[in-house]
Amino acid sequence: MNRRSFLGSSLVASVLCVQPRLALSITAPATYDLEAHVGKGRLYGEDGGVSDLWLYNKTLPGPEMRVRRGETLRVNFTNRLDTPTSIHWHGIRIDNRMDGVAGLTQEPVQPGESFIYEFTVPDAGTFWYHAHTMSWNQVPRGLAGALIVEEDVPAFPREQDLTLFLSDWRLDDGGRLDTASFGAMHDFSHAGRLGNWLTVNGKSMPDIPLVQGVWHRLRVINGSAARVLDLDPSRFGAQVIALDGQALESVPETSGALQLSPGQRVDLALKPEALGAMPFEMTTGQPFAFARFMVTEGPTSSGPRNRPLVAANALPKPDLSKVRRMPLDMAGGAMGGMRALMEAGKDPRAMMQNGQFWAFNGEPGSMEREPLFRAKQGESIQLDMANDTAFTHAIHLHGHHFQVLSLNGEAQDPQDWRDTVTLHRKDTASVAFQADNPGKWLLHCHMLGHAVSGMTTWFEVG
Ligand code: C2O
Ligand code: CU
Repeated sequence: MNRRSFLGSSLVASVLCVQPRLALSITAPATYDLEAHVGKGRLYGEDGGVSDLWLYNKTLPGPEMRVRRGETLRVNFTNRLDTPTSIHWHGIRIDNRMDGVAGLTQEPVQPGESFIYEFTVPDAGTFWYHAHTMSWNQVPRGLAGALIVEEDVPAFPREQDLTLFLSDWRLDDGGRLDTASFGAMHDFSHAGRLGNWLTVNGKSMPDIPLVQGVWHRLRVINGSAARVLDLDPSRFGAQVIALDGQALESVPETSGALQLSPGQRVDLALKPEALGAMPFEMTTGQPFAFARFMVTEGPTSSGPRNRPLVAANALPKPDLSKVRRMPLDMAGGAMGGMRALMEAGKDPRAMMQNGQFWAFNGEPGSMEREPLFRAKQGESIQLDMANDTAFTHAIHLHGHHFQVLSLNGEAQDPQDWRDTVTLHRKDTASVAFQADNPGKWLLHCHMLGHAVSGMTTWFEVG
C-alpha cells in the first residue's frame, strides 16, 4: 500500500467513527484498551530472579486510569491469558452489569475473548481495579491497578498528586514469585496468603520524589491478597484526608497509626519541610521500610502552599430510624474455629473436603447459595458483624459505601465512610448503608483466600 492510499483509508475510517460519536453525546467516554496476559518481572530489585507474572498491558501494576467525576469510563478488555478472568472496579458505586464478578454479574471472559466495561463514576477519589475470577490466584500474580477519579476541578496539581500502589508478594529464596503455593489450604484456613516482600508501584524500595514546602496528595492503595499494613502517617508529618476513596469533611490535625487492610485506601496530605530522605515503612514491631520519600527543593513558584480542600462526595445516607438489621457472624478457620463450628452442630470434615474453612452465620458462603438478604431499593440496611474466629478479616461490600457506626461497641466518627472494614479476632462492628443501587452485590472478606473458602455472600437490591 502506498502512502497516499494509506492516508486515504485512515481518513475514511476516522470520519466514519467520529461522526456517530458526535451524534450520540457531547463528551466521549475516557477510553482505555486493556489486555491481560502472562509476563515477566523482577520483584526483588535488580539482583532478584525473574518472576512469572500475570499483567495488564505488560505493566506492574496495571496502567493507572484517570477519569473525571461524572465521566464515563470505557475499557475495551481482552483476555490473552489461557484461563477465564473478569475485572472488578473496587469501590465504584457502579452499574451492576459492569461490576465484574464472574458467576454473579457476568460470565467470565474466556481466553481470546473481549468484554467492554463501560460505566459512569459518581464519586471522586482513589479506587482500584483487579481480577475477580479466582481472585485469590489472579490478584497476587499481578492483575491489579489504580483507578483515580479526579474532582470536577482537581484539588491538587497533577505533579503533586501521587499514587502509591502497595503489593505484598511471596518470594522464594531466589527472589522469584512463589507460584507453587497458590491455593495452599494452610493459607486459606489461617491468615491468608501472606507474602514476604512489598513493592510500591511494582518497584522494590523506590524513591518517591517530593518538593519541599509544597502540599502533596499521596493516594495509598493496599492491593495485597491478605497483608494488613500498619502505617503511621504522623511519622512523616502526613494527615489523613480520605478513606476508601471518600474525602473526610473535616481533616484531623494529626493522624496517628492506622491499619490498611487488603482493598482499603487512604489519601494522605503532606507538606515536607526538611530536605532529604524519609522512610515509608510498616510500623508493626520492628519498622520495615519499603520506600523512601526524597524531598528536594522545587522551583519556588510551583505547588500549593496551603493544603487544598477536597470536597466530600454526596453519598446516600442510611436512615437509622428505620434501618433493617442483619447479623453477620464469622466463624471457622484454624486455631479452634473449626472445632467451634463442630460444637455448633456443623460438619467441618465435609466442609474441609470442599475446601471450605469459614462460615457466615453458621454456613460456608458462596455465590451459588441464596442471598444473605434482599432489599428494596432505597432501604436502609445495618450489618452487625461479629468475628468469632482467631484471625483478622476485611469485609468488603460491592456497589455501595457504608458508614461505620460502631466498633466493639464504641461509636465511630459518622464521616467514616468505607467500602471495607477490618475486624480483628473477637471484634464486633456495626455498619449501615442505603441499598440504593439495584442488582446483585457481593459481600466478602478481602483476604482473597478466605473469600474463596467460605467468606463470600451476596445480596440483591430492587
Ligand atoms: Cu476488591 Cu469483591 O473486591
Ligand atoms: Cu477473612
